[in-house]
Amino acid sequence: MTISLSHQKSLPPLKKILVVGNGGRENSLAWALSRCSGIEQVWVTPGNGGTNDHLDCIRLGIEATEIQALLETCQSNQVDLVVIGPEAPLAAGLADELRAAGQTVFGPNANGAQLEASKSWAKNLLQEAGIPTAKYWDVSNEKEALEVVEELQQPLVVKADGLASGKGVAVPDTIDATKKAIQEAFKGKFGAAGTQLVLEERLNGPEISVFALCDGKQLVLLPPAQDHKRLKEGDQGPNTGGMGAYAPAPLLSREELNEVKRLILEPTVTALQKKGIEYRGVIYAGLMLTNSGPKVIEFNCRFGDPECQTLMPLLGPELAQVLQACAHGCLELAPELSIHSGCSACVVAAASGYPEAPRYGDLVSVELQTGQSIQLFQAGTKRDQNGSLFTAGGRVLSIVAQGKNFDEAFTNAYQGLEKVHFDGITYRRDIGNQVRQS
Ligand code: AMP
Ligand code: GLY
Repeated sequence: MTISLSHQKSLPPLKKILVVGNGGRENSLAWALSRCSGIEQVWVTPGNGGTNDHLDCIRLGIEATEIQALLETCQSNQVDLVVIGPEAPLAAGLADELRAAGQTVFGPNANGAQLEASKSWAKNLLQEAGIPTAKYWDVSNEKEALEVVEELQQPLVVKADGLASGKGVAVPDTIDATKKAIQEAFKGKFGAAGTQLVLEERLNGPEISVFALCDGKQLVLLPPAQDHKRLKEGDQGPNTGGMGAYAPAPLLSREELNEVKRLILEPTVTALQKKGIEYRGVIYAGLMLTNSGPKVIEFNCRFGDPECQTLMPLLGPELAQVLQACAHGCLELAPELSIHSGCSACVVAAASGYPEAPRYGDLVSVELQTGQSIQLFQAGTKRDQNGSLFTAGGRVLSIVAQGKNFDEAFTNAYQGLEKVHFDGITYRRDIGNQVRQS
């Protein structure tokens, strides 16, 4: 059941919000939503060690898989809006279950979440809709995959079809390395996500993340952001969930962003509608800016992390109502989302051993005074019974700061990071170097 309010003239009251997830993304969403006009309470579940640090935010320990407990919480707390952060519960149908029980949910149903949960499904949709993307080949066994490489005689990008927590892609440089990546994938390197593969033509160019809030028909675009996926400075080392980000990324001008909307995002919504999918959530398009224009590298069905942390401080107090309007399928009833004009910088502090084998349990001390233009968002943290804070995940926390330009924003973020300590703290000192003068 999807409740639509398109016949009404105003949105229902919005005071209480439940955010599902435990990362820095959800910490920043809760922080931003609790500051919105009229919001009295934001619960985050299962949350993390930093949830209760934000005004009017309360952590609940319910996991995203505990559907009955989530429903009971929504009912007993009279939650007006549920915002689902991560892809796994969306792909598993959490939004469907909550909607079926009458809840108002920001986040697509499982059918829409296939944009991220099946690369093959997403590529097929892109192709049907004529949206610019890399050429691709669906393959379901090693023989078939190796035949494609033999025929094309070029290196190809090798991707697991299913969700693989950002670890389901190999970008080999040679034909031999492509074959090896295919063999490894079919031997189980990508786990269950890699029993079907997508082989892709390799594109070149800078990457950018574009986020659109969607009510099933219409879109609100957020400032484009740039992520830093590699662990080490100079974009070296293993891929991670993201070690830092900044927004608005100057790689796309306002006009170019509108072109992305026209050529990529609007046709995506139309293609979803044609499949009978009313997509109410974030469409996150990972784009590569190639010589022949922007092309879709991947879609995700949720906010990027850390991009979300960077973006939240730039968004105005209308955000909660905009998400609510998306959830109701009637963006036309929402106030316009105001966007601050400054620059926002995010630097992630990870645990030692991240991403392969992060060490947990180190005491975290924070001397930072957060304020108007500097925030601390927590991710892999937990508190013990005495309230002491410990590391409990790979990406531990982020400092996000804003300034009139990127130099100011990053200087503030790095100064803030010096006031946070834990053994093994690992972060890149070159986040945003592309946009800094000094
Ligand atoms: P994905 O999980 O699909 O975003 O892929 C992870 C990373 O692999 C991307 O951020 C790109 O850096 C790289 N990648 C994915 N697809 C391609 C492609 N077709 N050409 C070049 N690089 C790619
Ligand atoms: N920062 C990349 C992602 O969230 O997938």
